[in-house]
Amino acid sequence: MTVELQHPMKPDATPEEIARGRFTSGIRSLILNDLAADMRAAYDRRAAPAFKKEHDREPETSREAHQALRGDPAFNIYSAMRVQAQKMVWASVADSVEREADRLSHEARKAADAPGSLTLEPGLDVPKNVHAIDVHLMPGSYTRGADSLEAGAVYDRGLAVFSMGLMGANLDDIGLSMSQYIKQRFPDFAPSRILDTGCTIGHNTLPWKQAYPDAEVIAIDAAPGPLAYGSARAKMQGQEVHFQQMCADDLGFEDESFDVVWSSMFLHELSKKQRAKAFEEAYRVLKPGGLVIHMELPPNEQMGAFDGFYLDWDSYYNNEPYYKGYRDEVPADLCKKAGFGEDTFFEFVVPSIGIYGEEAVAEAAKGDRAEGVGQETTGRLAEGVMWYGYGAFKK
Ligand SMILES: C[S@@+](CC[C@H](N)C(=O)[O-])C[C@H]1O[C@@H](n2cnc3c(N)ncnc32)[C@H](O)[C@@H]1O
Repeated sequence: MTVELQHPMKPDATPEEIARGRFTSGIRSLILNDLAADMRAAYDRRAAPAFKKEHDREPETSREAHQALRGDPAFNIYSAMRVQAQKMVWASVADSVEREADRLSHEARKAADAPGSLTLEPGLDVPKNVHAIDVHLMPGSYTRGADSLEAGAVYDRGLAVFSMGLMGANLDDIGLSMSQYIKQRFPDFAPSRILDTGCTIGHNTLPWKQAYPDAEVIAIDAAPGPLAYGSARAKMQGQEVHFQQMCADDLGFEDESFDVVWSSMFLHELSKKQRAKAFEEAYRVLKPGGLVIHMELPPNEQMGAFDGFYLDWDSYYNNEPYYKGYRDEVPADLCKKAGFGEDTFFEFVVPSIGIYGEEAVAEAAKGDRAEGVGQETTGRLAEGVMWYGYGAFKK
């Protein structure tokens, strides 16, 4: 169900707005559980056998699973409903954001003197992937309202509806689970400077400050509004984070100046060229012994045709033009091409710390590192909530 945010920026929503949010979360849950299961059944019973009849073999790729499903009633209903529900997510929070613009600015001003900082670069050429289309059907994309708090508030409130409670009370379950996993798996690793790239509103940045309180934490994003909102949101929670407007593929930091470069759900929104550059930049700014660590969608190489398509769906119908291209890439190759030693690459799945607790995360950090990575654990139809991640050290 819709999460109630845990900071002063949370909406002072009317009963109708609360009901609308809950209804939208509920519809999404129905789509992602029941209608998705119906689509899977239709694939097994109708679409894949019809494809086999025509091609004399099963669909082998995500693209072929898509081809097989197109036109099937179960696929049509699932897709039409998901698109509408996605639009409803953003629409369900728009009124409260508009009505509360003055209160949000007031709250942000009250927190302005708390530790942490915000540095915007009005002259920055904001890349097209950030502003030229409504990414994941979010009206106005990340630059809605320019450098006002609007885009951040829409994102924060919208994500609370979208995530149906699975991303934790503060939408930080990914950052909490991943940072704890790294702490448990590399207990002697003690970073003093951590960079989050593509942080949006910093919801998955703050957990790194909590995990490593003595470290300086810097979070960058190309879009100004979400950073302004994220900075105020962090200050209100007493978390000292430095937010800077900057492109991940053109970092304005010195060589060898960070111990960790982290990102969450970011790389799939970059073009192939930007992504390769972002990996090179991460390598450049990391100190020897530093760690690049990404939480992302699992790659197609780990999935069968249907599960691969199930994730790639967003590329076709949810305004995520680079999603499939990213998922077709191989994480180990991305790290290797940027200079990271092949033997330092690791990938893993970590159970949601909010759902399964710290012990489950500690357990996941033990044993064979590659164990458990695959479509059974990382597909969107997998049981439970597991986050996929990978990383590599700079030698
Ligand atoms: C899906 S959001 C990331 C979400 C967030 N990190 C999380 O944990 O949920 C993608 C973010 O990447 C930012 N972005 C896209 N291209 C960028 C680039 N080249 N450099 C920096 N940020 C970029 C967008 O502005 C947006 O805020």
